[in-house]
Amino acid sequence: MHATQLTQAPVSVTREMAAALPKLAQIAKSKGLALHHLGAGYPHPEVTDPTAFLAHKDAYYAHLGQTTGTKAVLQPLYGYTDTQGALRTRELFANIYGADFKADLAPEHLIPTVGSTGGINLLCSLFERSGNKVAYITDAPTYAGFLARASLYQKARIYSVEMDNEGPDCEALAAQIRQARADGYDVAFYYTVPDGHNPGGISFSAQRRQEIIKVLANADVLLVEDAPYSYINFEAPEARPLPFISLAPEQTVHLFTASKIGLPGPRIGFIYTEATLTIAGGAKVPLTQLLMTEASADFLMHNPEALCGFESFLLDDQFKPRESLWPVAEEKIRVYRENREILLSTLAEKLGDTPELFGWTTPGAGFFSVFTLNHPSIRCDKAFTERLVAEYGVVTIPTFSFFPADARVRNPKAGLNQLRLSFCYSEGTGAARRAELGAASQAFARAIRTECGL
Ligand SMILES: Cc1ncc(COP(=O)(O)O)c(C=O)c1O
Repeated sequence: MHATQLTQAPVSVTREMAAALPKLAQIAKSKGLALHHLGAGYPHPEVTDPTAFLAHKDAYYAHLGQTTGTKAVLQPLYGYTDTQGALRTRELFANIYGADFKADLAPEHLIPTVGSTGGINLLCSLFERSGNKVAYITDAPTYAGFLARASLYQKARIYSVEMDNEGPDCEALAAQIRQARADGYDVAFYYTVPDGHNPGGISFSAQRRQEIIKVLANADVLLVEDAPYSYINFEAPEARPLPFISLAPEQTVHLFTASKIGLPGPRIGFIYTEATLTIAGGAKVPLTQLLMTEASADFLMHNPEALCGFESFLLDDQFKPRESLWPVAEEKIRVYRENREILLSTLAEKLGDTPELFGWTTPGAGFFSVFTLNHPSIRCDKAFTERLVAEYGVVTIPTFSFFPADARVRNPKAGLNQLRLSFCYSEGTGAARRAELGAASQAFARAIRTECGL
């Protein structure tokens, strides 16, 4: 084959771990160790049984077909449809999601996407159109899927910003935008996961959100809010910080996905924005319009049957629009809250005596807590996490790989004292799930104490 200018993208550490797992698990098993899952970021099997969803969807199709017959209902669901999908689905979603998060959503600004991954893809693809050098501002650490997609463009560069437990350092955020522009880059947007940050294991405080908005408004930079865990929230309803789409709709691009509140398989997502962009020639254009041409040239249309299935998810047993998805979410939150409590209380009980050595985040939402290990002779690198699997049967993900390259230049040790612990996944359900999470948390704490010589 002829030579190209293509470059090989690195394999993510999560995929590397997934690939290494069978062999490591074998080693652990040969030592009589059980495998403890604190690595995978998958929704729990207890809340992803599709049976009830499918029965409800079928009942909805039968309900729709009462007057017209099933064929008239199903045929369009397997045919070509508009890039924006059915208006009724978007109207229902805009009303319910808008009410749940105190945002006034207009259905005409909603575009279906292939999960939130598809939303990231559309945005990156749009900003690559100019052929210019493109800068993305993001957190250190940040979501690996975003880094993977943004880095596909050879003229892209990531400018990252360190975080504390409330969110990004806003002075650094402003400075990185200035630096990117001084380096000759078009700044596309600031990408973040403000609720249940993956892999940061925090939610941004309400005050930090306001500071971020101020910085971005001053610099005229869009904020992309990736919101997979918006409904997986552990705070009391009145304590949940509002999302950016509610706080600053004209500045925000919001990525919704049904992967965690619903099921990941149907790949349902929506991108929503009311922002405008000034394009070449000086015209101000709604970003939705630009994303629409991007979407129609990319996937052309979302699967209409999957979207109609999602529509049924927005309706109650009488096929009336739900007032809120929070009661649906609560069935899932219950499981994750229990898991989270088991992990955090075990960490407190078994490792809470040495705060100078050990620390961890208390996530307000999402699937992850970040564990900090400040032992002078331990590096939380790939070899260390592989050792935790082979010696103790404990699967975790090292955090260093989620730090963009510039963050590792600023601090070569970035993330090398941290592990991402996920409390979302185990194999059993109910009492078995609780027992597995307990055993995993205990095994992790034991492993860490042993490794530290305590
Ligand atoms: C921050 C973040 N964004 C996006 C995704 C992918 O979501 P989707 O299934 O909607 O593509 C995940 C999945 O874990 C995630 O944590």
